[in-house]
Amino acid sequence: MINLPRDMSLLKKHLVDVLIARKSTRQFASRPLDLRQVACLLWVCQGRRSFEKPSSRRNVPSAGATYPMTTYLICGDSQVNELERGLYRYDVASHGLEPISDGDLRDELANACFSQRFISEAPASIVVVADYAITTSVYGERGVRYVHMEAGHSGQNIYLACTALGLGTVAVGAFNDEAVSRVLNLPLNHEPLYVFPIGYPR
Ligand SMILES: Cc1cc2nc3c(=O)[nH]c(=O)nc-3n(C[C@H](O)[C@H](O)[C@H](O)COP(=O)(O)O)c2cc1C
Repeated sequence: MINLPRDMSLLKKHLVDVLIARKSTRQFASRPLDLRQVACLLWVCQGRRSFEKPSSRRNVPSAGATYPMTTYLICGDSQVNELERGLYRYDVASHGLEPISDGDLRDELANACFSQRFISEAPASIVVVADYAITTSVYGERGVRYVHMEAGHSGQNIYLACTALGLGTVAVGAFNDEAVSRVLNLPLNHEPLYVFPIGYPR
């Protein structure tokens, strides 16, 4: 497990300034990201509110605190300082990254997203994945709606945190589900919901 930085002070910006500045970015500079920035983004997406209290809830609301979401990170060669290229799973409990595979999957991810090329140009992408059964086992079919609402909460946090960090992103919902699942080698019943390419705006 790779321990991620826990200093979130980079996010300390005025909310109104961040809200006004938020917009979608589809052109990325070839400037690497810092691991501290990536740690902030994964933390706002699904991290626990307190690193000290293992029982604390997360930075996003969740119906019945069921937390059906898993977060993945894909990064290219020398694209995130102090992080090897590859595919990682964000571990909420330890605020760490579990390495899954070591290739540069950015081109494959872009292809799976109907060749939206900016995805391969961004240094990294966050992919939000859900296991619907975690929520539908409690709420029945209505749980599907809840999972989609929760993905929106995570996505907005990523947008706002990117803006606060001087980075850009765009919510990508147009992709082939099976193809993205193959790129991430997702377990059965885990569905990709959102792709967020991350980088400095060009
Ligand atoms: C559910 C959803 C799916 C989206 N999918 C894509 C996408 O596949 N590709 C893309 O370039 N933008 C996508 N967007 C971004 C929208 O195009 C963008 O948010 C919209 O044009 C408004 O611009 P703004 O985000 O700069 O305010 C998506 C946004 C949402 C909310």
